[in-house]
Amino acid sequence: MLEEARAIIRRWPGYGETPLISLDGLARAVGVKKVWYKDESARFGLRSFKALGGAYAVFRILMDILAADGAKVDINERDILSSERVRNLACTVTVTCATDGNHGRSVAWGCQMLSCRCVIYLHEGVSLERQKAIEAFGAEIVRCKGNYDDSVRHAAQDAATYNRIVVSDTSYPGYTDIPRYVMAGYTVMSGEIIDRIGGQLSHVFVQGGVGGLAAAVLAHFWMTFGAQRPQFLVIEPDKADCLYQSALIGAPATVHGALDTIMAGLACGEPSHLAWAVLAKGADSFATIPDAGVPETMRLLARSPYGDPSIEAGESAVAGLAFLLAAASRPEIMRSLRLDRNAEILIVGSEGATDPILYQQIISGQMA
Ligand SMILES: Cc1ncc(COP(=O)(O)O)c(C=O)c1O
Repeated sequence: MLEEARAIIRRWPGYGETPLISLDGLARAVGVKKVWYKDESARFGLRSFKALGGAYAVFRILMDILAADGAKVDINERDILSSERVRNLACTVTVTCATDGNHGRSVAWGCQMLSCRCVIYLHEGVSLERQKAIEAFGAEIVRCKGNYDDSVRHAAQDAATYNRIVVSDTSYPGYTDIPRYVMAGYTVMSGEIIDRIGGQLSHVFVQGGVGGLAAAVLAHFWMTFGAQRPQFLVIEPDKADCLYQSALIGAPATVHGALDTIMAGLACGEPSHLAWAVLAKGADSFATIPDAGVPETMRLLARSPYGDPSIEAGESAVAGLAFLLAAASRPEIMRSLRLDRNAEILIVGSEGATDPILYQQIISGQMA
């Protein structure tokens, strides 16, 4: 499944490996051997790793429908995206999902690429900038009251009424195939990392929303390196810490409330069941961070005081780095996680300026 996703996505127009940047100055400042930053800010022009998941799931769903109709489909066919069979089917299909922004952008882009209709549900907290970015791919928008999880339910109810296909990045009992495709898409990113530096990493810091990204990366490292895989730390906003809470009770836990963290992509209150099953067995540690350190960390990446390259990192991208910077002044945490002179840490920089106005406000210091 992983190799298939890789072979297919690498042939999409605009595919290019995203940069893996060594932050040598920062590594010296925090006292570790290496800090690697996987910069997803330019992925397919959608500005986040999410471009890989939702769009790939839309593609796979159409292929599955064709196959179920008895059509002989070779998903590796070079011009499959523009084939008449796919176009004829696509115009009869409506795809839908709820999103905090980035997943919906990916689904909308996939639908545009394949020519199917797309309806995206946004909760109250999703900014107008993020809405515009989704509309730019031709999707219809439905605004709904409440938080992310409310919008997930709303989208699912309407999908049942209007016969739409839900392409969610989160899975629940009885809904696993599509989120599995989404996660397979994400492994294109982990594949690029593993090919370059996988064997030398001691730690992977990955941020959690519903956990799909963390689980996809962890599963990929696990399959590649087995027990020799790096230590996995999952980091969430303290206002939306459903994975952390799940780890405390040893089962999927729901966090209620507005989940109003600045890290919009991570504002999720319920773990993906599929993802949780992987993280429960394979993640080594879970941590939370407050919003307070996020703007500062974004500015530090944009203008490094340590002489490192300038990086465009969005609010959800910096969770791992914000944790590392906070931990650096707490020797007991550094010791317990073995973050020492031998540590080679990967930070998943999952997005760029996905809300450009907010990004500018933060970088210019207008928003502390
Ligand atoms: C930029 C960004 N980073 C990380 C995540 C977390 O991914 P997941 O919800 O699969 O845990 C998201 C989710 O939307 C995101 O948009």
